[in-house]
Amino acid sequence: MATERTFSIIKPDATARNLTGAINAVIEKSGLRIVAQKRVRWSTAQAEKFYEVHKARPFYGDLVKFMTSGPVVVQVLEGADAVKKYRDVMGATDPGKAAEGTIRKLFAENIERNSVHGSDSQENAALEISLNFKPDEIVG
Ligand code: RTP
Ligand code: MG
Repeated sequence: MATERTFSIIKPDATARNLTGAINAVIEKSGLRIVAQKRVRWSTAQAEKFYEVHKARPFYGDLVKFMTSGPVVVQVLEGADAVKKYRDVMGATDPGKAAEGTIRKLFAENIERNSVHGSDSQENAALEISLNFKPDEIVG
């Protein structure tokens, strides 16, 4: 399997509960490598741009408010089949449907405050990484 990169966010519900280290432990235990990471506070414009694909969805406004409500930790993860692998490690969007041992089963509060984001395709991963990191911030 090819080595890939994916984009991850530790969301405000998780940073508020001091779960960055606990989530990173699950990520690293899965074999994925954190090759870039920074803690930032998104502006409304940044969140709107990031979630532009969901603009027509009923939860878009709430999602933008949530993602700007506190700090987020943005990351680049690297490993074999990283995009799919991290989706598996995160678990289902709704923590009530997430499998045992997944980040969302362990830590998420509800379908919105679900602790982490992970890219859903290689194409989106490349786009999301470029929106959040300069190439020299990623050290593989
Ligand atoms: P993500 O993009 O954050 O990795 O999550 P995902 O692919 O599993 O879910 P997606 O459908 O892309 O939704 C993006 C985020 O919007 C929030 N959401 N709220 N209130 C709702 O019904 C609802 N549905 C989704 C979640 O924070 C979700 O992760
Ligand atoms: Mg998504």
